[in-house]
Amino acid sequence: MDKIIIRGGRPLYGDVRISGAKNAALPLMAASLLTKGTVVLNNVPQLSDVVTMSHLLMNHGVKLSLCGMDENARSGHRLFLNASNIGNFEAPYEMVKKMRASVLVLGPLVARFGFARVSMPGGCAIGARPVDLHVQAMRDLGAEVDLHDGYIEVSARNGLRGGEITFPVISVGATENAIMAATLASGKTVIHNAAKEPEIIDLCKLLSAMGAKIQGAGSSKIEIEGVSELYGATHTVIFDRIEAGTYAVAAIITGGELVLKDIDHRFFENISDAISEVGGKFSKISNNSVKVSSTDIRSKIDLTTSAYPGFPTDMQAQLMALLSVSSGLSTITESIFENRFMHVPELNRMGADIKIKNGIANIQGVPHLSGAEVMATDLRASVSLVLAGLAAKGETVVNRVYHLDRGYEKLEEKLSKCGAMIFRSSSVINIVEKPHIE
Ligand code: UD1
Repeated sequence: MDKIIIRGGRPLYGDVRISGAKNAALPLMAASLLTKGTVVLNNVPQLSDVVTMSHLLMNHGVKLSLCGMDENARSGHRLFLNASNIGNFEAPYEMVKKMRASVLVLGPLVARFGFARVSMPGGCAIGARPVDLHVQAMRDLGAEVDLHDGYIEVSARNGLRGGEITFPVISVGATENAIMAATLASGKTVIHNAAKEPEIIDLCKLLSAMGAKIQGAGSSKIEIEGVSELYGATHTVIFDRIEAGTYAVAAIITGGELVLKDIDHRFFENISDAISEVGGKFSKISNNSVKVSSTDIRSKIDLTTSAYPGFPTDMQAQLMALLSVSSGLSTITESIFENRFMHVPELNRMGADIKIKNGIANIQGVPHLSGAEVMATDLRASVSLVLAGLAAKGETVVNRVYHLDRGYEKLEEKLSKCGAMIFRSSSVINIVEKPHIE
């Protein structure tokens, strides 16, 4: 298995081009199932989750091809997806267990073909993560749902019909499945308590370009007027705000200065505002770039993760790494996923002083961290250990690097270009089954 080795204590300076968002690319790829036409996605990040989604779509019959560069000469890839010949409506356990976002094929398959059989994802490293809200949305649109043998079987032989969907809990994935399903349902659908994440807006942009009639994307009430057919379209994947936040922390935790390029300020402020409170300094230097540097890393901050526009759970571990070298006592409450503090014991092994009491992490800043051999447990936990390693004295070895490959494009390359001493040590034998997280 690959390892990442970091010799810490070097401030980072330079430019980092922020990639297309994993969490946008995956639903956008699933949306290609809604049409016979070709969907072209620019700025697709090179990530193992994108590969997993590609395999799943090919298994359904989607024809998929990849070009090296998109038209804007960004580093992201251009993906062509054509679902004119779908012959398999099942997403098998072997694929779904690798990546929970596989469940996003459910809505499009049922909307277009009236049937889908998708394995239940099961438990994962950051909690139970049920799919009841996805199932509820399908039922609210008139589908029959059968749960057996670990599979969700959904049928709507005469097509879906528009309806009212009220989510009791905000769910990004269930909102995406509901929107995609409703685009081809007969009549009008209203989704209440919808997720407002920028990735939802991005999905609705593509669907609208494909001919869908959607209003309210980015608000908690989304209205969709079903149409009889959708068409091919071209779309550029939105920037990855979590990757941008991660590099912002890298600049601050090392006492350096980075310019983050190809971002959209509107969708980054909820993250940059929180990091500013801890001592990050953000200066807009153009419409799509921001300079990040550190003042003093100070506390205290008492933060709770929540749905957008709140502070994202996907940035919690990275912020905790930063707070661990701040000058006071901070708290972080994780409100989205149970069991998402698994980076805490590993950060403590590097000299951090973090205690979890009643589900709240109490982080007492320490003057410095020390390098250690650590074990990553999920994508964001892994990158928090990389950040800690960049700041730590001595050498840090991060094991289970495959987690990072799911969500960070060219991580070592981007960090090395800015002065980090970071290397990957590869091994030919990869014996551990990769668990799914996000
Ligand atoms: C998406 C993101 C993930 C992020 C998460 C929260 C993708 C591919 N992944 O995951 O990176 O951490 O949003 O911002 O976009 N829930 C239910 N029942 C359901 C579905 C969800 O109870 O049927 C609960 C979950 O357990 C969780 C909460 O709703 O407590 C939010 O989860 P959700 O927004 O659905 O996360 P994902 O879409 O899986």
